[in-house]
Amino acid sequence: MSAVCNIAILTGSGVSAESGVATFRDTDGVWAKYDYREVATPEGFAANPLLVHEFYNERRRNIGTVFPNAAHEALAELERGLEARGGKLTVITQNVDNLHERAGVKNLLHMHGELAKAACALCSGVWPWLEDLSIETVCPNCKTAGGMRPYVVWFGEIPRFMEEATDAVVNADLFVSIGTSGSVYPAAGFVGEARAAGARCLELNLEPSENAYLFTDSRYGPATEVVPQWVKDVLTAS
Ligand code: APR
Repeated sequence: MSAVCNIAILTGSGVSAESGVATFRDTDGVWAKYDYREVATPEGFAANPLLVHEFYNERRRNIGTVFPNAAHEALAELERGLEARGGKLTVITQNVDNLHERAGVKNLLHMHGELAKAACALCSGVWPWLEDLSIETVCPNCKTAGGMRPYVVWFGEIPRFMEEATDAVVNADLFVSIGTSGSVYPAAGFVGEARAAGARCLELNLEPSENAYLFTDSRYGPATEVVPQWVKDVLTAS
């Protein structure tokens, strides 16, 4: 068995870019077209729910038109390969698309929520949701209109699964960051926590991220190229 048996991976929008999902801070990214304060904060939703619903409705419709790419598929293969060798993979994603699970990844933490779900702010119910949302949408549980919102974590809200994610990061032999600019906390802090706990840390990205200096290893290039090659190397070496 390889010396590496527990791997924690953090993914960002770069892993889905070649599937046709926009990144956020690249020149053609989401935040070049929208002010995040207007569409991705509780204050923005309170001020203009129509705008926020339209923003997420469009993105929700888009995930029905895109497919997992070779990077998503390689991570599912890595999970199966590690399990067969007695190891474990945890994928912590900042992405709200559903491409990791559609590729077959099982041990997945959606720390920023999921576009394919909706929540009711009035009764806290959460449901699978592929339809458009509006201020008239009625909650299936409390039967009230006006409380339904995208099941996504907005700026100023607390990311989900932090306990599970931190546990995976500090117990990993290897921490890998894929396709994220490393500019949004707490996810951007995982590499420091992994280093402090003694893990090797690898960055796979199109270009060096903001905290590239914290990684012990790096491979740069499109995710559909560098991720499958790295997974092949890991599974061949173990
Ligand atoms: N392959 C690999 N990496 C890529 C590719 C690609 N094909 N295309 C772009 N990238 C890289 C970019 O170089 C950049 O470093 O992906 C990263 C995307 O960074 P951001 O746009 O900042 O997206 P992300 O890191 O996912 O953002 C984090 O910010 O706005 C919030 O909640 C939102 O989850 C998101 C969080």
